[in-house]
Amino acid sequence: MSANPHPDFANLIVFDHPLLAHKIRLLRSVDTPKKVFKELVDEIAMLMAYEVTADLPSETRDVRTPLEATTGARVDGDRMTLIPILRAGLGMVEGVMRLLPTMRVGHIGLEREHDTLEPSDYYYKIPPNAEHRHFVVTDPMLATGGSASAAIGYLKRSGAVSIQLMCIVAAPEGVGRLARDHPDVPVFAAVLDRELDDRGYILPGLGDAGDRLFGTL
Ligand code: PRP
Ligand code: URA
Repeated sequence: MSANPHPDFANLIVFDHPLLAHKIRLLRSVDTPKKVFKELVDEIAMLMAYEVTADLPSETRDVRTPLEATTGARVDGDRMTLIPILRAGLGMVEGVMRLLPTMRVGHIGLEREHDTLEPSDYYYKIPPNAEHRHFVVTDPMLATGGSASAAIGYLKRSGAVSIQLMCIVAAPEGVGRLARDHPDVPVFAAVLDRELDDRGYILPGLGDAGDRLFGTL
């Protein structure tokens, strides 16, 4: 899989892989049922996590094979912290944790108001020692960028200095907002879509990710 910096956005890395592109087409389809939608979000998150964690620091540790002693890598999974933005970000947790099962998980509850498109917060719980942690924030949808920007702002106020954002579908408006608000945070997206409609939905998009994941349509 290749993950390339986007020519128009210095903060955006977009994935390029036929399997990911295939799964995103299925995810978009209005005919994809809830069960399959959930499975696709999970699989896409796992595939993306492999690339998002490509620069993870590792230490060299001894290991004894049945034949002799050698050395190998050890990643400090306990320092890694996954932050799903509720609700839809929850759909990406299991996929990422299949690769890094020792990650800690914090939660940030945000809901975008339908008329203003501004996020209102209802929950915040993260593991201690934010300044020593590496955070991966997950949310399938980056639309205006208001929710992701607020979530990252809360983490920074808790002391976080090392943050990545992982979304599935990004809109140019949201990527631009993050470039302005948090230029230090790389945004990983499976696909960059065209634009937002006048209700703040991503076009072509996939609709309301939370509603499709949890059946609240
Ligand atoms: C959706 C989505 C993002 C947000 C994106 O969540 O999961 O969190 O909207 O929009 P923005 O970039 O314009 O902020 P929503 O607020 O609908 O809540 P939900 O996950 O509970 O459905
Ligand atoms: N949130 C969603 O779930 N979908 C969109 O298209 C925009 C925001």
